[in-house]
Amino acid sequence: MTETAANETGTETPTSASYSAWLRVFAVLYDPVLWIGEVAGMRRRRRALVAEACGRVVEIGAGTGLNVKHYRDGLDDLVLTEPEPGMRRKLAGAVSRRGLAARIVDSPAESLPFTDASVDTVVSTLVLCTVDNPERALREIARILRPGGRLLFIEHVRARSRFLAACQDTLLRPWRGFAGGCVCNRPTLELMRANGFTVTADDQVWRGMPAIVRPLIVGSATVHP
Ligand SMILES: C[S@@+](CC[C@H](N)C(=O)[O-])C[C@H]1O[C@@H](n2cnc3c(N)ncnc32)[C@H](O)[C@@H]1O
Repeated sequence: MTETAANETGTETPTSASYSAWLRVFAVLYDPVLWIGEVAGMRRRRRALVAEACGRVVEIGAGTGLNVKHYRDGLDDLVLTEPEPGMRRKLAGAVSRRGLAARIVDSPAESLPFTDASVDTVVSTLVLCTVDNPERALREIARILRPGGRLLFIEHVRARSRFLAACQDTLLRPWRGFAGGCVCNRPTLELMRANGFTVTADDQVWRGMPAIVRPLIVGSATVHP
């Protein structure tokens, strides 16, 4: 069953009927659009990342549940947060097919319904590009993590190549409209550091996807004591 968390943040997601309708369609198209990329390496990357989750785990923006099959049984608690109803429906199906003991919570990353220092692992895959307010989301993640707790992430970020970064800037609006709010030129690594995280990450290439979602950063982050 899905729980609804109060949204205290006033996030900036567009609320027009046509945008909401597109998000429902996007939820249906999501897995087919990502399929080649999943087969070409993302699935393996997800498996390796999620295997590191331990203790009380919160995944933000869990989407259609592409990480669900990779969680091991026996975690202390697993909470999958997802604010979009279409995505949540697919997520509920994935959880049920996997027979996983997980709660699904309707909540944006900018306002997580967990007490301070109560979570061992936060998982974020391809989400910090999409949240309305990444600084606020990162502060929330830092707030709920226990000392020594880890943010495990796979995120695509602003390109280091000037040419590719210029392409990301040019294509930002149409891409954002198509891809459910994704900001392809967001400097997420720098935002993590600016918001107090110590980050260990590798640059990787998301094969099977357009170049504007390169590079990926894959790794973990902890909050400064
Ligand atoms: C590109 S999808 C990634 C889905 C999934 N994490 C994955 O790896 O396939 C971005 C997800 O972030 C969700 N999202 C959008 N705004 C959000 C917010 N403010 N807080 C948390 N998740 C959000 C979207 O609904 C969508 O499920």
